[in-house]
Amino acid sequence: MADTFDIGLGNSDFKTRKIADSDFVSFWNKQAKNLSWFSSWSQTLDWQIPYAKWFVGGTINACHNTLDVHQSTKSDKTAIFWEGENGDSRVITYGDLFIEVQKFSNVLKSLDVKKGDRVTIYLPMVPELPIAMLACARIGAIHTVVFSGFSAASIKDRIVDSKSKIVITADGGYRKGKIVKLKEIIDEAIKDIDFVKHVVVLERTKNKISLTSKDKLWNNLMNDASDSCVAEKLDSTHPLYILYTSGTTGKPKGVLHGTGGYLTHLYSTFKWAFDIKDSDVFFCTADIGWVTGHSYVVYAPLLHGATQVMYEGAPDYPDASRIWDVLQKYKVSIFYTTPTALRMFMKFGDDIPNSFDLSSLRLLGTVGEPINPEVWKWYFTIIGKQKCPIIDTWWQTETGGLMISSLPGLETLPLKPGSGTLPIPGVDIGIVDENGLDVPPNTKGYLVIKNPWPGMLLTLWGDDKKYENVYWSKYKKYYYSGDYAKKDDDDYIWLLGRSDDVLKVAGHRIGTAELESCIVSHNDVVESAVCGIPDEIKGEVIIAFVILKNGITSSDKLEKEISNKIRHDIGAIATPAQIYFVSKLPKTRSGKIMRRLLKAIANNETIGDTSTLEDSTAVTEVKSVFDEIQKVIKEKST
Ligand code: WTA
Repeated sequence: MADTFDIGLGNSDFKTRKIADSDFVSFWNKQAKNLSWFSSWSQTLDWQIPYAKWFVGGTINACHNTLDVHQSTKSDKTAIFWEGENGDSRVITYGDLFIEVQKFSNVLKSLDVKKGDRVTIYLPMVPELPIAMLACARIGAIHTVVFSGFSAASIKDRIVDSKSKIVITADGGYRKGKIVKLKEIIDEAIKDIDFVKHVVVLERTKNKISLTSKDKLWNNLMNDASDSCVAEKLDSTHPLYILYTSGTTGKPKGVLHGTGGYLTHLYSTFKWAFDIKDSDVFFCTADIGWVTGHSYVVYAPLLHGATQVMYEGAPDYPDASRIWDVLQKYKVSIFYTTPTALRMFMKFGDDIPNSFDLSSLRLLGTVGEPINPEVWKWYFTIIGKQKCPIIDTWWQTETGGLMISSLPGLETLPLKPGSGTLPIPGVDIGIVDENGLDVPPNTKGYLVIKNPWPGMLLTLWGDDKKYENVYWSKYKKYYYSGDYAKKDDDDYIWLLGRSDDVLKVAGHRIGTAELESCIVSHNDVVESAVCGIPDEIKGEVIIAFVILKNGITSSDKLEKEISNKIRHDIGAIATPAQIYFVSKLPKTRSGKIMRRLLKAIANNETIGDTSTLEDSTAVTEVKSVFDEIQKVIKEKST
């Protein structure tokens, strides 16, 4: 039996849940009314499987809902306490943000950005990042933010796929005490693209950069811009953004989110899960380059007129106390982070957090990967002093907002470390077998979503076919999440990792296919297979198996070259922890690499059924190569 912790702030009559379950469409219809609409909708949901249109006929603007609506009551309230890694800090009020966003909206217009145009944003975690996003939203342009750790080649793919005509970047950003030279990376990314007309460059670090005829400095443009720009009245289904994420096949796919449904989902979940109050100071450590940052740094807190902390750099820079220092300094009351970060903090020991005053905390959250029960308990005891509920939130780039979480702002539910508890009201999650039938309690199955939900992606940018194939082909009527899960006897959901070829490394989503095609594009490589193995801090790390061309011998130099190629083509987050050169890979008779087997070998587990293997000597070989390498590592470390 799992431990349970009875802690919550809401009531326990589950009234909202009952109403939502009886009619989810009417339920969301009511929730949408919490937002400010220019005109109301005529139809709450138009559901033509697999395309959902929410609040059809309604007009709305995301920027209007995050800024304009607060001006009469909260223009002096702090929206963002910003802390740079190098110690810089800024306090930005709702009034300041309103002015800056309107100015930048006019800058975009002056650069000929129109409703529906795509704008690529490649910025560090500075206030200009949400300012640029909100300005796009204000004029109806579609932002596509690229995480500032991605390489030039990755950005190029995203700019080409989205056909962005402008790019917004910075001279650099601070990360672990170093300057990441973003502008140079953009120069390389766009050197062969003629449709990018302008590059807006923010001077964050003031490192030396060379400007081309396309480049315009952020400050110069802002100096000349008017601070008044009316928000566009947009259809509820108007695309708000594209966010690229890794999948099982080929290149990252552009998840496309709309406006009215997405905002409704965020407004509701931020209230229910985070129990947001006017007096709170919220701090989400996610980078805005990922969906958590889009939804729970930019849109949800601002919809609620909340005060939040935004931090630029590494949470352990210059030392392991940095994050707790930020929490103490800004009296953070709600803290949302990842299991990977918690495992790292936990390793540094209890004395560090114990030496800070964290008494302002009242609610804690995690996201992005399963949390180990012992880490959960550490978070609960050492950080939350056993008085803060923990919300373990399960969701995906595609779902827009959280889908499974305890909801201290709505109801009291005993918590079980390691379980996300129940789906949010109005969302029907099933755990099913291969045939789509519900599995009994305590049985592993595929996590599916049985009804459309408001934060649901509209489609994949420019590729409806792929959207249908990836999410709606395994089960025709259910959304296929790609995750394994089980329900226990209390209907609590336990996430059991990915059921497809997607890895979660330090909470970042990485597709094995993308990595393998990158490795294979190295001149000396014939074939490659990539898998994840458990890691104490990162949850999972990448292991790559590589077959070299005839006549090429393995070497440290070659290993380094392959590693560098991955950094260059994708980004540092995808670098394998280990690369093993082998002469064969275990394959099924139909030629598919058996990743399950590689994973088992890499973990020193028993291999199980190999009857479908084409050539069982491959297993022995991979295992012997692996054993050999393990031996070398062991010898090195003693
Ligand atoms: C995983 C991140 C266990 C899951 C918001 C999902 C989780 C993928 C949790 C989506 C959690 C996310 N417990 N696993 N609380 N939250 N995941 O698109 O495998 O970067 O499918 O979105 O992260 O990753 P993405």
